[in-house]
Amino acid sequence: MLKIGNIEMKNQVVLAPMAGVCNSAFRLTVKEFGAGLVCAEMVSDKGIVFKNEKTMNLLYIDEREKPLSLQIFGGEKETLVEAAKFVDQNTNADIIDINMGCPVPKITKCDAGAKWLLDPNKIYEMVSAVVHAVEKPVTVKMRMGWDEDHIFAVKNAQAVERAGGKAIALHGRTRVQMYEGKANWDIIREVKQSVTIPVIGNGDVQTPQDAKRMLEETGCDGVMIGRAALGNPWMIYRTVQYLETDKLLGEPSVREKMDVCILHLDRLIALKNEDIAVREMRKHAAWYLKGIRGNAKVRNAINECQTREQLVSLLNELALDESQNQAIVG
Ligand SMILES: Cc1cc2nc3c(=O)[nH]c(=O)nc-3n(C[C@H](O)[C@H](O)[C@H](O)COP(=O)(O)O)c2cc1C
Repeated sequence: MLKIGNIEMKNQVVLAPMAGVCNSAFRLTVKEFGAGLVCAEMVSDKGIVFKNEKTMNLLYIDEREKPLSLQIFGGEKETLVEAAKFVDQNTNADIIDINMGCPVPKITKCDAGAKWLLDPNKIYEMVSAVVHAVEKPVTVKMRMGWDEDHIFAVKNAQAVERAGGKAIALHGRTRVQMYEGKANWDIIREVKQSVTIPVIGNGDVQTPQDAKRMLEETGCDGVMIGRAALGNPWMIYRTVQYLETDKLLGEPSVREKMDVCILHLDRLIALKNEDIAVREMRKHAAWYLKGIRGNAKVRNAINECQTREQLVSLLNELALDESQNQAIVG
């Protein structure tokens, strides 16, 4: 089973951190679908240190989400350590994760995110400073390298381990690849063989079968799922079931999808407010609608929604249309 420091997960399935997605509303929903560990979206160290209001709101965790890993990012030791201490002492996160994979220039030009991948010595120094400053286990999520000519995944992972990091999540792509091309799972196996701390594999797990294949092919200790869980917490449930029982469950009905979408919306409203939640929910709703017949028209209408009532009525209509179609077909 997956164990990070003294935190034991009930299974090997991990929800990836995703900015603008993995807030408490989504995480709790995914947790209820069985995830062993959920990761929060990345939070700026400076935002924490300067107590920026929006940043502080990102630190909210519902007890029911636990175990949870909270990810911070930064480029300077002083603020990174300060932020980690704050998370350690003032939040109910179980694990403090450091972002070493974010590829966007806004982040890398501040020497944060994937920029660290070029310098194993910096990784050692930064991770060790954080580890010494906090009680909670510290982990790192990284990409395999900066570009094809700078793939230091093994050295970087060993630096994390030497510094006292308790696990590594590895996305098998370089910074330059962004999200293009196929994730390299061979490097996940190489890293797994080169450290003794748990390694969580990540990249292109799109089906429960992929998850099993990643575990078997790389020997990794956990499997992290990102995009395949967008609007699709069933992916997590189906993966847990498949790994535990070898049974591949079917896809949910449209009614089930819409019900969970509405639950997600209501949690987002409670977390933020109706106005912000409805706007944020537009992208999630489009993901929940993926693969449903005739969704294009509804998607356009969803983008115009201003209130919960409007959004819920569109989602209910879609579920009703689908059940009538089924009845006709039946
Ligand atoms: C919308 C979005 C936001 C993301 N935000 C973060 C983040 O905040 N921190 C992080 O380490 N990775 C982030 N990632 C990367 C994912 O955690 C993951 O590594 C990547 O999507 C590959 O996994 P997948 O193929 O299962 O999607 C993000 C990815 C997406 C699609």
